[in-house]
Order: sequence, then structure tokens, then C-alpha cells
Amino acid sequence: MFDLTGRTALITGGARGLGAAMAHGLAEFGAEIAIFDVVEEGHEICEEIAEQHGVSAEFYEVDVTSESRIEEAVGEVVDAFGQVHILINNAGIYYPTPVLETSLEDWDHLLRVDLTGYFLMAKHTIPQMPEEGARIINIASIAGHSAFEQSAAYCVAKGGVIELTQSLAYEFGSRGIRVNAICPGTFVTDMTSEQLEDEDFKQTMKNQVPLGRAGEAEEIKGLAVYLASDASSYMSGSIIDLDGGWTCHV
Ligand SMILES: NC(=O)c1ccc[n+]([C@@H]2O[C@H](COP(=O)([O-])OP(=O)(O)OC[C@H]3O[C@@H](n4cnc5c(N)ncnc54)[C@H](O)[C@@H]3O)[C@@H](O)[C@H]2O)c1
Repeated sequence: MFDLTGRTALITGGARGLGAAMAHGLAEFGAEIAIFDVVEEGHEICEEIAEQHGVSAEFYEVDVTSESRIEEAVGEVVDAFGQVHILINNAGIYYPTPVLETSLEDWDHLLRVDLTGYFLMAKHTIPQMPEEGARIINIASIAGHSAFEQSAAYCVAKGGVIELTQSLAYEFGSRGIRVNAICPGTFVTDMTSEQLEDEDFKQTMKNQVPLGRAGEAEEIKGLAVYLASDASSYMSGSIIDLDGGWTCHV
């Protein structure tokens, strides 16, 4: 039910953090892996994945804000692997800034990576997906449905990802493409390393997250495999929190 043998998964931002963990997770269940990222570590992660799980894994240097590079690189993935069965839109950036200090340039750039990049990847990958059994997993955030301090642009982008998920699920369901979103709470990655060193933030996690801690990157693997596999065959348009219970209370 969870077997992904013979499926190709394309993961953006897979060189580090949650993306790298999901790439490992899907490879453990037999998927071939293609990673799009802007950092060199993508090569090492792919070597590790191929060695540890015995599947093909290829890194492509792709900035998800560049439509022409996305189009070209998706073509390269199709040449190498045949089709794309699973797309995980995950590449993202985050920089906390109060609204009144946010420049238009920063606002536009964040939305371009965290939201428009997801749209562009979907636009150019969907035509390369099989008629049945394809799936898209969008990594949103609990910030997509709840406000966080100094995070307006990020919250708006992630809220957009939630709506994009539902729109794609609606538009492509009849083509057999299932589209779901994961909304992580706080996980230990490069993105959150500074925040997690802050004593006040640590206390907030202890007080407000019922499980009392941040998630480890490994802990997203199970849900990603579930959504990528036939185990979730009737699930589409779902927005799933993965936050240690943070948002289940006021
Ligand atoms: N870590 C958390 O607590 C958390 C919480 C909620 C949501 N998320 C989301 O999860 C996703 C992964 O975050 P993470 O914590 O692993 O962060 P991370 O910084 O560890 O990894 C992000 C990856 O995206 C890549 N990337 C950034 N800009 C890119 C671009 N323009 N083109 C291609 N690749 C690019 C980076 O190089 C990096 O490898 C993001 O979408 C983030 O918003 C993370």
C-alpha cells in the first residue's frame, strides 16, 4: 500500500531540511528521486539517497522563481526518468520582518519563491504526469491559516499555497491527480535555527505546543509517504496540520 517502486518523485528544496528528509523517506519506499534546489548540497543528498536506498537520485540546479529554468529542468527529468508521478513543492524562504519595515522588493521576492514557485512547478510538471496515479504535495505552514509575529508576507504566501492546493485538487481531480498540503508547525531545520535558540521562543514551544517541543525533520517523512502512496487514494484537497498540536487550541 505504501510501496513507491517505479514512481519518480520531484522535490523542490530537497537539498536540506524537510525536503531532504522527505526525499529520503520516499526513497526508502522505492521512489526514484529528482531534487531541484539552488544549493550544492543537493549533489551530496542525492549520492546519499542512491547509496542508502538503492534508487536513482539526481540533482538539478533550479531556482523555482525562473519559469524558463523550471521548464528546461522538468524536461531533463522526463528525459532521465520518463514521467513525474509525485511532485513535492517545498522550496521556501522565511525572514521575519514587521509589516512597516517590509520593502516591496522583499515582499515580492518572498511571494515569488514561496507561492509563485509552487504554481510554476505545478504548471510545468502536471503535463508530464501520468493520466492516473499522480500526486502533488504542497508544503504550506500553520502560518497559512494563523497569524504569526513579523510574518505577514510568509503567512500570505502560505495561505496562498493552501488555496492553490484546493484549486489544483479541484481542477485536476478528473485527471486522476490528487493534491494535498502539509502545514508544518516549527521543525528543527536551517530555516528555524535562529528562532529555536531564542529562550522566549523555546518557552513558547513548551507552553503552547501540547507535545512541548519542535518537530524533527524526520517526523515529516511518514505523512509525506502516506500522501505520495496509494494508502491515501481517496484523499485530495486536504490541508493537514503537522504541528505537535500547536493549533488545536486557543
Ligand atoms: N522548518 C519549519 O519549521 C517549517 C515550518 C513550516 C513550514 N515550513 C516550510 O517547509 C519548507 C522547507 O523548509 P525547511 O525548514 O526545510 O527550510 P530550509 O531552509 O532548511 O530548506 C529550504 C530549501 O529550499 C531551498 N530554496 C530556497 N529558495 C529556493 C529557490 N528559489 N529555488 C530552489 N530552492 C530554493 C533552499 O536552498 C533549501 O535547500 C518551506 O516551504 C518552509 O516554508 C518549514
